[in-house]
Amino acid sequence: MTSDMQSLLQPFLEKSEPRRGLPSAAYRDVEFWDAECQSVFARNWVCIGFAHELKKPGDVVPVTAAGQPLLMVRNGEGEIKAFHNVCRHRCLTLVDKPGNVGKLIRCPYHAWAYDLNGTLRASPHFGGTGQHDANGFDKSRSGLVPVRTHVWQDWIFVNVGGGAPHFEDYAGSLIRRLEGVDWENVDCIGILDFGEISTNWKFIMENFIEPYHVQFVHSSTTDQPLSDHYTIIDGNCMGSAVDLGEEVGTSGSLAVSSRYLALYPNFILGRYFPDQLGVYLNIPTGPGTMNQKRGLYTTSGKQLRASEVEDLKRLWWDVHKEDHEMVERLQAGRASTVSDTGGVLSPVWEDSVHAFQSLVARDLIGRSSN
Ligand code: FES
Ligand SMILES: [Fe+2]
Repeated sequence: MTSDMQSLLQPFLEKSEPRRGLPSAAYRDVEFWDAECQSVFARNWVCIGFAHELKKPGDVVPVTAAGQPLLMVRNGEGEIKAFHNVCRHRCLTLVDKPGNVGKLIRCPYHAWAYDLNGTLRASPHFGGTGQHDANGFDKSRSGLVPVRTHVWQDWIFVNVGGGAPHFEDYAGSLIRRLEGVDWENVDCIGILDFGEISTNWKFIMENFIEPYHVQFVHSSTTDQPLSDHYTIIDGNCMGSAVDLGEEVGTSGSLAVSSRYLALYPNFILGRYFPDQLGVYLNIPTGPGTMNQKRGLYTTSGKQLRASEVEDLKRLWWDVHKEDHEMVERLQAGRASTVSDTGGVLSPVWEDSVHAFQSLVARDLIGRSSN
């Protein structure tokens, strides 16, 4: 973090009424993005995948976390592991698309091969024709570099820097808010893949945890009055909630008690009573881009008809498209000098956004606002 960045964050740190948001640079500048990769995304537990997308031993999925290429693999014992997606020979990325590699992850360049636990098994002709070893070359130290991984339910988390608290402690304030979920019966009934969204990852998080926009942006897709909402700020968990009845609205709109919860930095879980969850895989890829998928889950063990699943997918697709338009316009607005000082946050509806931004500032400069 340069002193320049410190001074850009100064208006955010000052206790003004109402509070200011983060400056434009935090959403646009490569320096901020690089600093986030080394702090926000390296120190914390970051969600990188859905476990159900790696069904069989040998299934692999490449992903970006903390600005670095990683791969996820299901090994022969059925565990999911994550490694840096880099060959130890000349550092080529090993896996470029999801698929099944069988028993070995083979580099396409010079055929070095790693088993599903990352051990280097072959380095053909490295020391000359028919000579697979070379002076000073220690095969046992040339395996794939592992990344600290934790699989919680269907969601794969990594802590790239390795120093975060145990996941259960890190995520305790989120997990406690999910009391009553019948985890034995959680079933993924569909995935929506939104592909790339032209926005900074923080806007997606901030949008999810403030209830202020819901009545305006989602007036045709939801039926959740603003006055019934409240915000949640609880350690690494922040978001909002609305307490209503527990029946789905008649017009196909969302009108149930809901919890909109984020686990800092990038995990989002929506709980919709009585028996649905929506989990978002948010993969930041640069200062102004990210990829997003949403997994739809039921928790009652009831089988839904195909048409019911399609209706749910359509509802959530529409809700998200409404949000995506807003977050892309938030990003576009940051090109204006008017947004240099961050805009202002509602003290009631966007205190959750301030709490989220404070954690970002804490990780960037070691100081949070109060
Ligand atoms: S770069 Fe992978 S085998 Fe040469
Ligand atoms: Fe929204």
